[in-house]
Amino acid sequence: MCGIVGYIGGQDATPIILNGLKKLEYRGYDSAGLAVLEDGHIQLRRDAGKLDRLSELVATSPLHGHVGIGHTRWATHGEPNARNAHPHTGATGNVVVVHNGIVENYMELREELAAEGVVFHSDTDSETIVHLIERYLSSQVDLVTAVRKTLGHLKGAHGIVVLSASEPDKIVAARMGNAGGVVIGFGQDETFVASDIPAILEHTRRVTFLESRQMAVITRAGARITTLDGREVRPQVTTVAWDPVSAEKGEFRHFMQKEIHEQVRALTDTLAGRVDYEKDLIRLPQLNLTPEKARQIDKIFITACGTAAHAGMVGKILIEKIARIPVEVNIASEFRYSDPILTPNTVVLAISQSGETADTLAAMEEARRKGAMLWSIVNAIGSQAMRIADGYISMQTGPEIGVASTKAFTAPLVDLYMLAVVLADLRGTLDLDARRSLIKDLALIPDLVGRCLDREADVVAVAHQLKDTRSSLYLGRGINMPIAYEGALKLKEISYIHAEGYPAGEMKHGPIALVDKDMPVIVLAPQDPWHEKMISQIEQARARGGRVVAVATEGDERIASLADHVLWVPSAPWLLSPVVTVIPLQMLAYHIASLRGLDVDQPRNLAKSVTVE
Ligand code: AGP
Repeated sequence: MCGIVGYIGGQDATPIILNGLKKLEYRGYDSAGLAVLEDGHIQLRRDAGKLDRLSELVATSPLHGHVGIGHTRWATHGEPNARNAHPHTGATGNVVVVHNGIVENYMELREELAAEGVVFHSDTDSETIVHLIERYLSSQVDLVTAVRKTLGHLKGAHGIVVLSASEPDKIVAARMGNAGGVVIGFGQDETFVASDIPAILEHTRRVTFLESRQMAVITRAGARITTLDGREVRPQVTTVAWDPVSAEKGEFRHFMQKEIHEQVRALTDTLAGRVDYEKDLIRLPQLNLTPEKARQIDKIFITACGTAAHAGMVGKILIEKIARIPVEVNIASEFRYSDPILTPNTVVLAISQSGETADTLAAMEEARRKGAMLWSIVNAIGSQAMRIADGYISMQTGPEIGVASTKAFTAPLVDLYMLAVVLADLRGTLDLDARRSLIKDLALIPDLVGRCLDREADVVAVAHQLKDTRSSLYLGRGINMPIAYEGALKLKEISYIHAEGYPAGEMKHGPIALVDKDMPVIVLAPQDPWHEKMISQIEQARARGGRVVAVATEGDERIASLADHVLWVPSAPWLLSPVVTVIPLQMLAYHIASLRGLDVDQPRNLAKSVTVE
């Protein structure tokens, strides 16, 4: 979950690497570092804290050269201080390494290397890599061979980029397992390497991705890719369609705020080219689904983490209701340990914004191993979760930078709805009128979301009321129960206020004991089939002195008379209501965190892509 950038070409490497790292800070921001080859010697700058600190250091102590590598860290082993920052260098100072992943056997390797006389300068697992490379270089092999031999010692999943002063015309990169991607970008007489596309997008859109157990020798002229055992691989070069500007904040204070407001466009894009309103048809061609295959499906497992898992919970209701296929939602970190019962007719559907979440990828691998059909709903183009699936749906929302996921939550809700309609259609269980009506409802979505966003001022007013709260409860039922989980997750991850999402019907079995005047209760009570039940929930909370904030449908007088504050949403078809009800909760979390003066886009202890188990 760290960010890596490397450059080789005719330009000054330092600003290119620093700018690239800035785009990857969402992957980690505990410390940062940079190594550049200057007049035949490796020059190193590293500092604790965010990238700005490194930039200041580089400004006071500049370094220039045409080849270099950099890193922004999310600490796993060793405190986030300057000595643990990457790049790591060995005894000779001739080789530097940046690493993403965990060297699971680093203790054994450290002992082994220490016995050979190696002195360690950090507490990290990553430092073992550079010492192993130096061990092999000292036996007169070239850098590529030394890296290859080193990889043979490492347990776990890794993305590694290496630079040596003795072979200044190249950078060596490698990927083993799912520790985040390694993408190589091709320019004019210059080549880039990074852990994610946004880092290099302003320079080139022509990219290729390393698969697991592949290495690349990167030169100004391009990249030579081989498998770890030396077999040549022909790179598949893809042209990325993302606009680099969409990875900038623009007029907004934070990426999260920008991404919340981008949802009208993001949802329009996720529908674009898929829904044919004239023929009342939905097409998801990348799923590679035939009527025969669709009819064979006996069960769907949805697997994902965090926000993506909440989207999956809504997806379960949509698919079961519309397509009548049983669906189970499994948290991805548990999936591979739960010995799931999978058949060749079972679909395992992974949902992931990054497409690089280690737990989700491990769940997909388990599904592959057990012979299930493997699908994914993914935002990051070309990511592992997209590549290894038999079929996929691309969210088409553009890059999401804020650690708190917003547009990559609502887009998969719409994708899951489309999937449910396609499945029902192919299985022949949907009559024409029902299909027409379901598809007609989809067209409403961008406008409904826009109307929620127009009510931001109301949300700010409620945020002022709740900003000093210490703990809160989010309640929902049915299709809006996962929205209670999601609202609570949004609040806790960026505002550090304890928030618990709960199925409203479970309140009376324990949590109601918590309710008093200091405990805001956020109740999802739109006009859906559970509306009446939610009204009695509000009454129960009020009877215990609880302060109720309701998310309710415009014009709902009963809610207006019962709740202390109401976040109004426009009336929406109930199967699509989560797309609407989540918007005020995203804005509420954002404004509370912002009023508390917190770092909204880079909350403490978190990273955007969680590429470790
Ligand atoms: C969302 O706000 C969180 N930051 C987090 O739960 C996230 O959704 C989770 O880590 C899954 O990420 P993915 O979608 O990239 O797989």
